[in-house]
Amino acid sequence: MTKIVAANWKMYLGKAGALELWQNLKPTLKNLGDINLIICPPFTSLADLSEVTNFGHQIFLGAQDCFWEDQGAYTGEISPKYLEALGCKYVIVGHSERRRYFRETDEMINKKIKAALANDLTPIFCVGETKEERQADKVKEIVADQLKRGLVDVELTSDQEIIIAYEPVWAIGTGVACSVEDAVAVHRLIIQELKKILSKPAPILYGGSVDEKNVADYVQEKEIDGVLVGGASTKLASFSQIIAKINELT
Ligand code: PGA
Repeated sequence: MTKIVAANWKMYLGKAGALELWQNLKPTLKNLGDINLIICPPFTSLADLSEVTNFGHQIFLGAQDCFWEDQGAYTGEISPKYLEALGCKYVIVGHSERRRYFRETDEMINKKIKAALANDLTPIFCVGETKEERQADKVKEIVADQLKRGLVDVELTSDQEIIIAYEPVWAIGTGVACSVEDAVAVHRLIIQELKKILSKPAPILYGGSVDEKNVADYVQEKEIDGVLVGGASTKLASFSQIIAKINELT
């Protein structure tokens, strides 16, 4: 079964760094197994990495965010239309860092998801609970609510897709990954919730401190369709080992 690896380079790797990592990564991508790889560099490197889109049919370019209008007086924002024109096929929407630092609400995320779909981009829609919410035993409630609100009136046509990323906030960038057992339990919950909301199933990724040591444990689970990797995808050694580990399994 195809596994998805989405690399979220966040605000790391400027022009030179992003190009260098891509150039060094290329040899390891020659014999990609049953993996779809989505590389999400900062906006300023998307054009420089346009070669990604020609490299192979399993490798795609993605953005880390988008606005919900096609154009207008929205200083500093980036339209999904512009991203599509640059060769992007995917866009991360509702990442917890955006919810936290930029006050993104479920309503804003819902508009972004619809705008992305309308512009032929596949949203990678992030959901996940905080540490306090997990301690208060609210994981199910929080995740189900984020899905419901983020996907209001989202109707997928036969050629449209949406990817869900389960990213517990407390596991992001902390080195404390969610146990495989707990991740699988939330993925099962997401599968059930999506049946009530969408007309078809969606791939579900796990994200949060995924690295070369733990990646195989996640992707070998049938409920986990792949991983969203932040920090470890910005370093050549760990990123190429992550790909190698999944290659062995597919
Ligand atoms: P991390 O980030 O792998 O550095 O924990 C994941 C993410 O934020 O998508």
